[in-house]
Amino acid sequence: MSKKRYMVTSALPYANGPLHIGHIAGAMLPADIYVRYLRAAGEDVAWICGSDEHGAAITLKAKKEGISPKEVVDRYHVLMRDAFAGFGISFDHYDRTSSPEHHKNAQEFFLKLLENDAFEVKTELQYFDTEAKQFLADRYITGTCPKCSHDKAYGDQCENCGSALSPNDLINPKSVLSGSTPKLKETSLWYLPMGDHEVWLRDYLEKGTLDGKHHHDVKDWKKHVLGQCKSWIDGGLQSRAMTRDLDWGVPVPLEGADGKVLYVWLDAPIGYITATKNWAAANGKNWEQYWKSEDTELIHFIGKDNIVFHCLIFPILLKAHGSYNLPYNVPANEFMNLEGDKISTSRNWAVWLHEYLEEFPGKQDELRYVLCSIMPEQKDSEFTWGDYKDRVNNELADILGNFINRVVVLTHKYFDGEVPAAGPLSERDVNVLNAIEEISSNVAESIRSFRFRDALAEAMNLARLGNKYMTEEEPWKVWKTDPDRVKTIMHVCLQVAANCPFVLHPFLPFTSEKLGVTFGVDYLDWARAGRELMKAGQRIGTSEILFTKVDDALVEKQQLKLAEAKKESVVKEVEPMKELISFEQFGAMDIRIGEILEAERVPKTKKLLKLKVNTGVDVRTVVSGIAESYEPEQAVGKKVTILINLAPREIKGIVSEGMILMAEDDAGVLSFVSPERDSIVSGNGVR
Ligand code: 2FM
Ligand code: ZN
Repeated sequence: MSKKRYMVTSALPYANGPLHIGHIAGAMLPADIYVRYLRAAGEDVAWICGSDEHGAAITLKAKKEGISPKEVVDRYHVLMRDAFAGFGISFDHYDRTSSPEHHKNAQEFFLKLLENDAFEVKTELQYFDTEAKQFLADRYITGTCPKCSHDKAYGDQCENCGSALSPNDLINPKSVLSGSTPKLKETSLWYLPMGDHEVWLRDYLEKGTLDGKHHHDVKDWKKHVLGQCKSWIDGGLQSRAMTRDLDWGVPVPLEGADGKVLYVWLDAPIGYITATKNWAAANGKNWEQYWKSEDTELIHFIGKDNIVFHCLIFPILLKAHGSYNLPYNVPANEFMNLEGDKISTSRNWAVWLHEYLEEFPGKQDELRYVLCSIMPEQKDSEFTWGDYKDRVNNELADILGNFINRVVVLTHKYFDGEVPAAGPLSERDVNVLNAIEEISSNVAESIRSFRFRDALAEAMNLARLGNKYMTEEEPWKVWKTDPDRVKTIMHVCLQVAANCPFVLHPFLPFTSEKLGVTFGVDYLDWARAGRELMKAGQRIGTSEILFTKVDDALVEKQQLKLAEAKKESVVKEVEPMKELISFEQFGAMDIRIGEILEAERVPKTKKLLKLKVNTGVDVRTVVSGIAESYEPEQAVGKKVTILINLAPREIKGIVSEGMILMAEDDAGVLSFVSPERDSIVSGNGVR
């Protein structure tokens, strides 16, 4: 049974950079489609979002740019808000978490949790950067992941394996601020003992029950979402600190807690509630109905990196608070890659939404169409400009655009822009007319089950069907022999065409608005769709060309732009200098030129080569992590730079006596640091 109300949220994007297609494809476009459909179906829905303005994502950006966190969030909040609006992302309300209302709301929420004994206070040793004079958590600290050995894991999460981490879990921790190894220092933190919640969380996620009652159908949840939750729970739920020692964030509202703020992942989801309160106040609504009423479904649209926060942590907080609904579904998407590589803000490998809007004015629907067609619903997907071109040309222009254009032109040509009455219907006419309702109910069903790719394909089937019907019925030929039959054909075509904006509107709102005007239909009311939408005698308007074709030059231009942007970002993204060392420390290193005499792979490893190197002093064995960059036969004969007085180490049972110096490019490919002149021979020292 469907419920009475929908509370829909999209992950609050960090206000630390512009929006890219990954944000859109992950948490925004699916929600926009869902909500546009629900509204058209007459449902009561509130969709809120806003800028996530706290946390290390913001403060680190501020540090990098040499400006204040406030300046960062003010800049990007406006940029994001405007880009969303320009792209037709139709939030009911877009808020921000640095607002005084949110600070107050988050603090009250925290105090209520405290009152309900939701936290444990622990005084303990935490990593502290003595140079930067700051405690290090989250993205302020990196190190090796204890679960998967990824060497760039953060203090809160490993992006490689998705594990949640605490700074103290990291192997070989380093401060992101100074690059130094942090020291331990005592502080107090409020922890959420997640382990205490394991039993009911399992019931909630694995059976869909809460307090022994049915809550939702587990089969409606995506498998990858449930899989991730299960593996978290199976891995053992650790307590998680809900406060931070930082000066940017929502202050902990307690005496003696100066310099402490709420953990960003505590305050941000509460931001959903603040945003709803603000929306309700401005629109004469009762916010509590949307968050607390049993007949409201709470739906969170997010990307897969946010699953744990929305399926485990936020539900714990909501339940501990006492009176809130828990998520009814969390249809998380996986990631969208771009032209063979991960989208990355820092490496500038992205299609930026504000730039797209500037470069492609009036073409929001083209991008919406492509992003929905390849939405990473069940697995990661990939955006390429070549694919963009193909989909725009072969689908939007050749099918939808072509069909609408022919219907409009022929209606004007033969019937002066008036819908002709149908004569006797052939079996095929009936089938086509019946398909209108079938397609529209299929689209609705797919949208309600979060299958947006299927829904879009089905909606396009309506235009595809009309286009095919018209091509095969050939009204332009029949006109010469049987104009009455053309009336029927065009009547059928007009019913199909005028229904297109109904089923396409959630995906293509800009195009649908034009079609709504052309056919004079109220496409925002789903109930009006159907085979008798257009009445005989009704006049239709004209139509412009809906989609212009994309050429190869555009594809190449965009690919070039990406390559250039990446090059620039590589230059910009140089690692900060390490701490100064003395001349003595440098002098203590014995660096020589050596020649690789033999090379072989170390069995059962991906990265290691065992090398025999002539150092000029002796021939020795060195184990080197270069096997992903050099085949053994490529390494043999190379002159390389080698540190020879490094204490020997055993690696995979082999004693390695020295270290080969390597240079690394932005893709992680290593290259030997070799002397430029052939005359330099083994044993020459580096001076
Ligand atoms: O991952 C992110 O980009 C976060 N800013 C998402 C926050 S969602 C929420 F809970 F507010
Ligand atoms: Zn990991």
